[in-house]
Amino acid sequence: MRICFYALREYDELAYCEKCKEEFGIDYVYTGYYPSLENAALAKGCEAVSMTPCDMSAELVEAFHSIGVKYITCRSVGYNHVNLEKAKELGMRVSNATYPPDGVANYTIMLMLACLRKLPHILKRVELQDFSLKDKIGKDISSCTIGVLGTGKIGATVIQHLSGFGCKILAYDSYQKDSIKGLAEYTNFETLLKESDLITLHMNATNANYHIVCNESIAKMKEGIVIINTARGNLIDSDALIQGIQSGKIGAAGLDVLENEDGLYYYNRIGKVLVNETLAILRSFPNVVLSPHTAFYTEEDVAGMVQSCFESLYAFEQGEPTTHEIKF
Ligand code: COI
Repeated sequence: MRICFYALREYDELAYCEKCKEEFGIDYVYTGYYPSLENAALAKGCEAVSMTPCDMSAELVEAFHSIGVKYITCRSVGYNHVNLEKAKELGMRVSNATYPPDGVANYTIMLMLACLRKLPHILKRVELQDFSLKDKIGKDISSCTIGVLGTGKIGATVIQHLSGFGCKILAYDSYQKDSIKGLAEYTNFETLLKESDLITLHMNATNANYHIVCNESIAKMKEGIVIINTARGNLIDSDALIQGIQSGKIGAAGLDVLENEDGLYYYNRIGKVLVNETLAILRSFPNVVLSPHTAFYTEEDVAGMVQSCFESLYAFEQGEPTTHEIKF
Protein backbone atom coordinates (compact mmCIF):
# COMPACT_ATOMS: atom_id res chain seq x y z
CA MET A 1 0.00 0.00 0.00
CA ARG A 2 1.21 3.49 -0.78
CA ILE A 3 0.00 7.07 -0.32
CA CYS A 4 1.06 10.02 -2.44
CA PHE A 5 1.29 13.11 -0.21
CA TYR A 6 0.85 16.44 -1.98
CA ALA A 7 1.82 19.79 -0.43
CA LEU A 8 3.77 17.92 2.22
CA ARG A 9 5.88 20.09 4.48
CA GLU A 10 9.24 18.46 5.14
CA TYR A 11 9.89 20.58 8.22
CA ASP A 12 6.90 19.39 10.26
CA GLU A 13 4.99 16.55 8.54
CA LEU A 14 7.73 14.27 7.23
CA ALA A 15 8.75 12.90 10.64
CA TYR A 16 5.13 11.83 11.29
CA CYS A 17 5.00 10.12 7.87
CA GLU A 18 8.11 8.12 8.79
CA LYS A 19 6.58 7.14 12.13
CA CYS A 20 3.28 6.04 10.53
CA LYS A 21 5.08 4.18 7.73
CA GLU A 22 6.57 1.90 10.40
CA GLU A 23 3.39 1.66 12.43
CA PHE A 24 1.01 0.83 9.56
CA GLY A 25 3.39 -0.83 7.09
CA ILE A 26 2.26 1.67 4.46
CA ASP A 27 4.75 3.32 2.10
CA TYR A 28 4.51 6.86 0.76
CA VAL A 29 5.87 9.27 -1.82
CA TYR A 30 5.59 13.04 -1.57
CA THR A 31 5.98 16.43 -3.13
CA GLY A 32 5.85 19.93 -1.68
CA TYR A 33 3.59 21.00 -4.55
CA TYR A 34 -0.20 21.04 -4.50
CA PRO A 35 -1.82 18.46 -6.78
CA SER A 36 -2.43 19.48 -10.38
CA LEU A 37 -3.05 17.86 -13.75
CA GLU A 38 0.67 18.34 -14.45
CA ASN A 39 1.90 16.41 -11.40
CA ALA A 40 -0.95 13.87 -10.98
CA ALA A 41 1.25 11.11 -12.49
CA LEU A 42 3.32 11.15 -9.31
CA ALA A 43 0.49 9.16 -7.69
CA LYS A 44 0.84 6.26 -10.14
CA GLY A 45 1.14 3.06 -8.11
CA CYS A 46 -0.53 4.65 -5.05
CA GLU A 47 -3.93 3.63 -3.71
CA ALA A 48 -4.45 7.02 -2.06
CA VAL A 49 -3.62 10.68 -2.52
CA SER A 50 -3.46 13.13 0.38
CA MET A 51 -3.57 16.91 0.33
CA THR A 52 -4.30 19.99 2.42
CA PRO A 53 -7.19 22.19 1.16
CA CYS A 54 -6.76 23.09 -2.53
CA ASP A 55 -8.92 22.85 -5.64
CA MET A 56 -9.57 19.11 -6.09
CA SER A 57 -11.65 19.72 -9.22
CA ALA A 58 -13.65 17.08 -11.11
CA GLU A 59 -10.88 16.98 -13.74
CA LEU A 60 -8.20 16.34 -11.16
CA VAL A 61 -10.23 13.68 -9.34
CA GLU A 62 -10.74 12.00 -12.71
CA ALA A 63 -7.02 12.22 -13.52
CA PHE A 64 -6.15 10.43 -10.27
CA HIS A 65 -8.82 7.80 -10.85
CA SER A 66 -7.52 7.12 -14.37
CA ILE A 67 -4.10 6.10 -12.97
CA GLY A 68 -5.56 3.75 -10.37
CA VAL A 69 -5.99 5.96 -7.28
CA LYS A 70 -8.95 4.74 -5.22
CA TYR A 71 -8.98 7.04 -2.20
CA ILE A 72 -8.70 10.74 -1.44
CA THR A 73 -7.49 11.25 2.13
CA CYS A 74 -7.71 14.91 3.18
CA ARG A 75 -5.15 16.20 5.66
CA SER A 76 -7.83 18.54 7.01
CA VAL A 77 -11.15 18.36 8.79
CA GLY A 78 -12.72 20.36 5.96
CA TYR A 79 -13.30 18.51 2.68
CA ASN A 80 -15.40 21.04 0.78
CA HIS A 81 -12.47 21.51 -1.62
CA VAL A 82 -12.97 18.00 -3.08
CA ASN A 83 -15.43 17.49 -5.93
CA LEU A 84 -17.45 14.82 -4.14
CA GLU A 85 -19.91 14.33 -7.02
CA LYS A 86 -17.06 13.23 -9.27
CA ALA A 87 -15.53 11.02 -6.56
CA LYS A 88 -18.91 9.36 -6.02
CA GLU A 89 -19.49 8.86 -9.73
CA LEU A 90 -16.11 7.13 -10.00
CA GLY A 91 -16.59 5.06 -6.85
CA MET A 92 -13.68 6.74 -5.05
CA ARG A 93 -13.78 6.95 -1.26
CA VAL A 94 -12.91 10.12 0.59
CA SER A 95 -11.76 10.64 4.16
CA ASN A 96 -10.96 13.61 6.35
CA ALA A 97 -8.61 14.11 9.28
CA THR A 98 -9.33 13.96 12.96
CA TYR A 99 -7.24 15.97 15.36
CA PRO A 100 -7.88 17.31 18.86
CA PRO A 101 -10.29 20.29 18.72
CA ASP A 102 -8.42 22.06 21.55
CA GLY A 103 -5.83 23.76 19.33
CA VAL A 104 -8.37 25.59 17.16
CA ALA A 105 -10.68 26.22 20.13
CA ASN A 106 -7.93 27.81 22.22
CA TYR A 107 -6.70 29.90 19.28
CA THR A 108 -10.29 31.12 18.85
CA ILE A 109 -10.37 32.24 22.48
CA MET A 110 -6.99 33.93 21.99
CA LEU A 111 -8.48 35.92 19.05
CA MET A 112 -11.51 36.82 21.18
CA LEU A 113 -9.28 38.22 23.93
CA ALA A 114 -6.97 39.96 21.43
CA CYS A 115 -9.99 41.71 19.86
CA LEU A 116 -11.75 42.59 23.10
CA ARG A 117 -8.55 43.96 24.71
CA LYS A 118 -7.24 45.62 21.48
CA LEU A 119 -3.96 43.77 21.89
CA PRO A 120 -2.55 44.21 18.34
CA HIS A 121 -3.22 47.96 18.53
CA ILE A 122 -1.56 48.19 21.97
CA LEU A 123 1.48 46.21 20.79
CA LYS A 124 1.87 48.34 17.66
CA ARG A 125 1.92 51.46 19.82
CA VAL A 126 4.52 49.91 22.16
CA GLU A 127 6.77 49.57 19.06
CA LEU A 128 6.47 53.34 18.63
CA GLN A 129 7.05 53.94 22.36
CA ASP A 130 3.50 55.25 22.74
CA PHE A 131 2.64 54.09 26.24
CA SER A 132 -0.37 56.39 26.67
CA LEU A 133 -3.79 54.91 27.47
CA LYS A 134 -6.06 56.85 25.12
CA ASP A 135 -8.03 54.57 22.73
CA LYS A 136 -6.65 51.41 24.34
CA ILE A 137 -9.57 50.69 26.65
CA GLY A 138 -10.97 47.18 26.24
CA LYS A 139 -14.00 45.15 27.24
CA ASP A 140 -13.70 42.28 29.68
CA ILE A 141 -14.73 38.89 28.31
CA SER A 142 -16.32 37.94 31.64
CA SER A 143 -18.99 40.60 31.19
CA CYS A 144 -19.76 39.58 27.59
CA THR A 145 -22.42 37.40 26.06
CA ILE A 146 -20.65 35.14 23.58
CA GLY A 147 -22.64 33.61 20.71
CA VAL A 148 -21.27 30.33 19.33
CA LEU A 149 -22.58 29.43 15.87
CA GLY A 150 -22.10 25.70 15.39
CA THR A 151 -21.54 23.27 18.23
CA GLY A 152 -19.63 20.48 16.53
CA LYS A 153 -16.34 19.33 18.07
CA ILE A 154 -14.60 22.71 17.88
CA GLY A 155 -17.62 24.86 18.83
CA ALA A 156 -18.36 22.60 21.80
CA THR A 157 -14.73 22.78 22.96
CA VAL A 158 -14.78 26.58 22.68
CA ILE A 159 -17.85 26.55 24.95
CA GLN A 160 -16.23 24.18 27.46
CA HIS A 161 -13.01 26.19 27.68
CA LEU A 162 -14.82 29.52 27.64
CA SER A 163 -17.07 28.54 30.51
CA GLY A 164 -14.17 29.17 32.92
CA PHE A 165 -14.18 32.87 31.99
CA GLY A 166 -17.60 33.43 33.54
CA CYS A 167 -19.23 34.88 30.44
CA LYS A 168 -22.76 34.12 29.33
CA ILE A 169 -22.71 31.73 26.38
CA LEU A 170 -25.43 31.34 23.73
CA ALA A 171 -25.27 28.57 21.15
CA TYR A 172 -26.99 27.84 17.89
CA ASP A 173 -26.96 24.59 15.93
CA SER A 174 -29.62 22.49 14.24
CA TYR A 175 -28.37 19.54 16.32
CA GLN A 176 -28.19 20.25 20.06
CA LYS A 177 -25.55 18.47 22.17
CA ASP A 178 -26.56 17.42 25.70
CA SER A 179 -22.93 17.69 26.87
CA ILE A 180 -22.89 21.49 26.58
CA LYS A 181 -26.42 22.27 27.71
CA GLY A 182 -25.26 23.10 31.26
CA LEU A 183 -22.59 25.49 29.95
CA ALA A 184 -24.40 27.31 27.16
CA GLU A 185 -27.98 28.19 26.39
CA TYR A 186 -29.20 27.01 22.98
CA THR A 187 -31.23 29.75 21.30
CA ASN A 188 -32.57 30.36 17.83
CA PHE A 189 -30.38 32.11 15.26
CA GLU A 190 -32.14 35.49 15.55
CA THR A 191 -31.81 35.62 19.35
CA LEU A 192 -28.11 34.76 19.18
CA LEU A 193 -27.55 37.57 16.65
CA LYS A 194 -29.52 40.06 18.74
CA GLU A 195 -28.11 39.30 22.20
CA SER A 196 -24.41 38.50 21.65
CA ASP A 197 -21.53 40.94 22.21
CA LEU A 198 -19.21 38.61 20.32
CA ILE A 199 -20.09 35.96 17.73
CA THR A 200 -17.73 33.12 16.83
CA LEU A 201 -18.22 30.88 13.80
CA HIS A 202 -17.75 27.11 13.96
CA MET A 203 -19.93 25.87 11.12
CA ASN A 204 -19.12 23.77 8.08
CA ALA A 205 -18.81 25.54 4.75
CA THR A 206 -22.01 24.11 3.28
CA ASN A 207 -24.16 25.84 0.66
CA ALA A 208 -26.71 26.61 3.40
CA ASN A 209 -24.08 28.40 5.51
CA TYR A 210 -22.52 30.37 2.64
CA HIS A 211 -22.32 34.07 3.72
CA ILE A 212 -24.23 33.41 6.93
CA VAL A 213 -22.66 36.66 8.08
CA CYS A 214 -24.01 39.14 5.52
CA ASN A 215 -25.64 42.59 5.45
CA GLU A 216 -28.93 41.15 6.66
CA SER A 217 -27.53 39.21 9.62
CA ILE A 218 -25.08 42.00 10.58
CA ALA A 219 -28.03 44.44 10.73
CA LYS A 220 -29.59 42.29 13.46
CA MET A 221 -26.42 42.25 15.61
CA LYS A 222 -25.57 44.62 18.47
CA GLU A 223 -23.72 47.87 17.80
CA GLY A 224 -19.98 47.19 18.19
CA ILE A 225 -20.34 43.42 17.71
CA VAL A 226 -17.06 41.47 17.64
CA ILE A 227 -16.86 38.69 15.02
CA ILE A 228 -14.40 35.79 15.14
CA ASN A 229 -13.89 33.32 12.30
CA THR A 230 -11.53 30.34 12.58
CA ALA A 231 -13.74 28.11 10.39
CA ARG A 232 -14.00 28.98 6.67
CA GLY A 233 -13.74 32.31 4.85
CA ASN A 234 -16.91 31.97 2.82
CA LEU A 235 -19.10 31.94 5.94
CA ILE A 236 -18.66 35.74 5.86
CA ASP A 237 -19.54 38.08 3.01
CA SER A 238 -16.30 40.10 2.95
CA ASP A 239 -17.90 43.23 1.45
CA ALA A 240 -20.57 43.24 4.17
CA LEU A 241 -17.86 42.76 6.81
CA ILE A 242 -15.83 45.69 5.48
CA GLN A 243 -18.91 47.93 5.32
CA GLY A 244 -19.85 46.88 8.85
CA ILE A 245 -16.39 47.78 10.17
CA GLN A 246 -16.32 51.08 8.29
CA SER A 247 -19.73 52.09 9.69
CA GLY A 248 -18.71 51.13 13.25
CA LYS A 249 -21.47 48.53 13.53
CA ILE A 250 -18.75 45.87 13.81
CA GLY A 251 -16.39 46.82 16.64
CA ALA A 252 -13.64 44.31 15.86
CA ALA A 253 -12.97 41.12 13.93
CA GLY A 254 -10.55 38.25 14.49
CA LEU A 255 -10.11 36.40 11.21
CA ASP A 256 -7.98 33.30 10.79
CA VAL A 257 -9.64 32.55 7.46
CA LEU A 258 -10.61 34.70 4.48
CA GLU A 259 -12.65 34.29 1.34
CA ASN A 260 -10.27 33.54 -1.55
CA GLU A 261 -7.30 32.73 0.68
CA ASP A 262 -6.20 29.91 -1.66
CA GLY A 263 -2.99 30.75 -3.50
CA LEU A 264 -2.07 33.28 -0.81
CA TYR A 265 -2.03 31.68 2.62
CA TYR A 266 0.87 29.30 3.23
CA TYR A 267 3.07 31.08 0.66
CA ASN A 268 5.88 33.50 1.48
CA ARG A 269 5.02 36.67 -0.47
CA ILE A 270 7.50 39.08 1.14
CA GLY A 271 8.18 42.02 -1.18
CA LYS A 272 5.45 41.05 -3.65
CA VAL A 273 2.47 43.11 -4.81
CA LEU A 274 -0.62 41.26 -3.59
CA VAL A 275 -3.70 41.41 -5.77
CA ASN A 276 -6.28 40.99 -3.02
CA GLU A 277 -8.28 44.09 -2.21
CA THR A 278 -10.21 42.46 0.63
CA LEU A 279 -7.00 41.59 2.42
CA ALA A 280 -5.52 45.05 1.78
CA ILE A 281 -8.57 46.81 3.23
CA LEU A 282 -8.88 44.49 6.23
CA ARG A 283 -5.16 44.86 6.98
CA SER A 284 -5.57 48.62 7.13
CA PHE A 285 -8.10 48.45 9.99
CA PRO A 286 -6.68 48.78 13.54
CA ASN A 287 -9.52 46.69 14.96
CA VAL A 288 -9.02 43.64 12.74
CA VAL A 289 -6.73 40.81 13.82
CA LEU A 290 -5.71 38.71 10.80
CA SER A 291 -3.83 35.45 10.87
CA PRO A 292 -3.11 33.20 7.87
CA HIS A 293 -5.20 30.09 8.70
CA THR A 294 -2.91 29.00 11.51
CA ALA A 295 -5.45 28.13 14.21
CA PHE A 296 -4.87 24.42 13.55
CA TYR A 297 -1.10 24.68 13.57
CA THR A 298 0.09 22.77 16.62
CA GLU A 299 2.27 19.68 16.93
CA GLU A 300 -0.73 17.71 18.16
CA ASP A 301 -2.93 18.66 15.19
CA VAL A 302 -0.27 18.11 12.52
CA ALA A 303 0.43 14.64 13.95
CA GLY A 304 -3.30 13.87 13.82
CA MET A 305 -3.63 15.04 10.21
CA VAL A 306 -0.84 12.81 8.93
CA GLN A 307 -1.91 9.83 11.03
CA SER A 308 -5.52 10.10 9.79
CA CYS A 309 -4.40 9.49 6.19
CA PHE A 310 -2.54 6.31 7.12
CA GLU A 311 -5.47 5.12 9.26
CA SER A 312 -7.93 5.77 6.42
CA LEU A 313 -5.94 3.90 3.78
CA TYR A 314 -5.34 1.01 6.16
CA ALA A 315 -9.06 0.71 7.00
CA PHE A 316 -10.21 1.13 3.37
CA GLU A 317 -7.86 -1.60 2.18
CA GLN A 318 -8.64 -3.96 5.08
CA GLY A 319 -12.37 -3.48 4.47
CA GLU A 320 -12.77 -2.08 7.99
CA PRO A 321 -15.06 0.85 8.83
CA THR A 322 -13.36 4.13 9.68
CA THR A 323 -14.79 7.27 11.26
CA HIS A 324 -12.59 9.27 8.89
CA GLU A 325 -14.71 8.25 5.89
CA ILE A 326 -16.96 10.93 4.42
CA LYS A 327 -20.35 9.46 3.68
CA PHE A 328 -21.83 11.00 0.56
C1 COI B 1 -8.97 21.95 8.54
O1 COI B 1 -8.49 20.97 9.12
O2 COI B 1 -10.06 21.88 7.97
C2 COI B 1 -8.24 23.22 8.55
O3 COI B 1 -8.84 24.25 8.40
C3 COI B 1 -6.76 23.18 8.62
C4 COI B 1 -6.19 22.96 7.26
C5 COI B 1 -5.96 24.23 6.54
C6 COI B 1 -4.90 22.21 7.31
